[in-house]
Amino acid sequence: MSKYIIKGDAKINGEVDISGSKNSALPIIAACILNGGVNTLYNVPNIRDTNGMLEILTDLGCKVIKKKNKVIIDSSGVNKIQINEKLMREMRSSVIIVGALLARFRKAIFSYPGGCEIGARPIDLHINGFKKLGINIDENTRYIVCKCDKIIPAEIQLDFPSVGATENLMLASVLSDGETILRNVAMEPEIEDLQNFLNRMGAKISGAGSNIIRIKGVKNLREVSYNIMPDRIETGTFLCFAATTGGKIELNNVKDEIVLPILAKLEEAGCKIYREHNKIILDAPKRLKAVNIQTLPYPGFPTDMQSIFLATLITAKGTSIITENIFENRFKCVPELVRMGAKISVSGSSAIIKGVRKINGTNLIATDLRGGVALIVAALRAKGTTIIENCEFVERGYEKLEYKLKKLDIDFTKEG
Ligand code: EPZ
Repeated sequence: MSKYIIKGDAKINGEVDISGSKNSALPIIAACILNGGVNTLYNVPNIRDTNGMLEILTDLGCKVIKKKNKVIIDSSGVNKIQINEKLMREMRSSVIIVGALLARFRKAIFSYPGGCEIGARPIDLHINGFKKLGINIDENTRYIVCKCDKIIPAEIQLDFPSVGATENLMLASVLSDGETILRNVAMEPEIEDLQNFLNRMGAKISGAGSNIIRIKGVKNLREVSYNIMPDRIETGTFLCFAATTGGKIELNNVKDEIVLPILAKLEEAGCKIYREHNKIILDAPKRLKAVNIQTLPYPGFPTDMQSIFLATLITAKGTSIITENIFENRFKCVPELVRMGAKISVSGSSAIIKGVRKINGTNLIATDLRGGVALIVAALRAKGTTIIENCEFVERGYEKLEYKLKKLDIDFTKEG
């Protein structure tokens, strides 16, 4: 396992180009199965999670060519409908491949993706939605076997606006012979990116970004090329790197209107923010002010920014309260932060952060993707050097992090 070595008392100063969105690239890569043709994707982040998804598509028979952030996927040779169990366990979000396999082959076999570090992450909303589309689901063997003669258009009400379930049901119904209506769907920008990609292929989908999505089934889908949207969580992450160090940062290749909930909280904490369509400039005060945060489905404050913002508030003036409403186990980085001298207590779904003047660098262990980045935020502010083990977690979701931080005058090295 490799580790990061970070010199504290840092001050972020400079500009950085934000990469393509992990959480948009993953469903769009899965959707390339649908048309049995050659699809070209640009601005795909070269990270562990997208490479994991591409490995699963290769295992199913796709030909994949990667040239930096350009990925060509030829899905004409897909010859399997069973998702590799080992690869699926490493990449639980690969469950969205099921929807694409069902649309094209009306059959899919997979194993329960299982939980991960942040929660149980069940897939009941996916399964119930598939059943409403007329898909027979056999869960009695070690695999889940899904099959149908044809996908039957339906009206489906999601119990919760699940991002993955919304994406899976969009993919499953895109080739049906009627109109499927999904209600109480996720409204995240990544859903809109998926809709735009599918419509570019010739699908007839509307409503993404609202809480009702309509999918008019079509007979076939053409080959496409598509540019993945910017990563809004990486955007928020680099803003927090600057905010916690009292620095100044300029972000390029961003989409400011999809990070408004994050910008609002950073301004409330005392940061000055200037934004144009694809550029954001943040100027941080010497010391932030405490703020309260509730994580909610989009357009609320994103759960993926929760631990990163929590770490940003450790040395703020006053007491902050952060409530996590989406996942049941997303405060795992707190004990590591407390070891640095942070004053954080967790009760139920809330964390109470009493601002301190100083925290100290020490040896830390990352336990999940965003929690690992929270440790980096704290390390930048801490006195002295911090070593963070298990940085593979962070590399699941952040492209060229070492290069980008070095470019911002940070003393940051990776070992192993
Ligand atoms: C997506 O995960 C993102 N991942 C997550 O980002 C993100 O945190 C999450 O959406 C919420 O925004 C990708 O897009 C690849 P959900 P997903 O289904 O689709 C419960 C990151 O750090 N639920 O919206 O798995 C679930 O347990 C990752 O980039 C059910 O109960 O999230 C959770 O409590 C982490 N039954 C809540 O809904 C289901 O069938 C939200 O899950 C599905 C979900």
